[in-house]
Amino acid sequence: MKNKRVRKCLFPAAGYGTRFLPATKAIPKEMLPVLTKPLLQYGVEEAISAGLDTMAIVTGRGKRAIEDHFDISYELEHQIKGTSKEHYLTEIRDVITKCTFSYTRQIEMKGLGHAILSGETLIGDEPFAVILADDLCDNEEGDSVLTQMIEVYEKYKCSIVAVEEIPLKDSNKYGVIAGVEIEESLIRVINMVEKPDPKDAPSNLAIIGRYILTPDIFDIIRETKPGKGGEIQITDALLELAKEGKVIAYKFKGRRFDCGSVDGFVEATNYFYKKETL
Ligand code: G1P
Repeated sequence: MKNKRVRKCLFPAAGYGTRFLPATKAIPKEMLPVLTKPLLQYGVEEAISAGLDTMAIVTGRGKRAIEDHFDISYELEHQIKGTSKEHYLTEIRDVITKCTFSYTRQIEMKGLGHAILSGETLIGDEPFAVILADDLCDNEEGDSVLTQMIEVYEKYKCSIVAVEEIPLKDSNKYGVIAGVEIEESLIRVINMVEKPDPKDAPSNLAIIGRYILTPDIFDIIRETKPGKGGEIQITDALLELAKEGKVIAYKFKGRRFDCGSVDGFVEATNYFYKKETL
């Protein structure tokens, strides 16, 4: 297991997206577009940029649009072939040719840890990345956030979580870590708490939706009791690895938008609009 390269990226995508109702009544929240591109496609492109070629998507009921998106639409291709509109499909066609997609369903919504465990059948016994598509990341200066994390993984060969500083009052929205700095921007995690009240937060460093996990996490999740909100939390499972010194938090370079909230979504839209039109 130790020397296996990270090839696969898991996308938990079974959630209901209640914060975006009614938009998410019949459309998966991962398919909401920032400009013209669905959130999930941004995530897949980030994974490809990091050298990953196998996308493992954990879906649920009502998520078929995701599978159709990452597939050829013959009717559409036929209709616009040779017209001035053909270029609109170039980017997604490119994505489809660069990687493979596999799917499994999370039958019950029992939390992010449970969603990740549902993906075990697609991952097997190898290290893998996890992208939460509603955390949209961009690094104008250079490598994507996942590329940066793969570099850290290559050096330390243990689980990696991406973190950023948050205002302490927001600690109850995130997994929050504490640890010891081992290099610039790298912290060996010794404690992590899911969505603590500000008064209980071990620091102001919050986990964002990018992880690299070693496959021993699956057995740990199986043993993890429901935590915050009665859900099986990946943060709680990772704490077990952290106790053995096997989790590193990485302060990434770049920006992250919380597209699970309307404010973050609007911010991301403005940011990408400016980026594309300047
Ligand atoms: C999940 C994780 C949390 C993490 C967050 C990042 O929470 O449980 O630890 O900080 O993603 O977006 P969710 O936002 O799914 O409630």
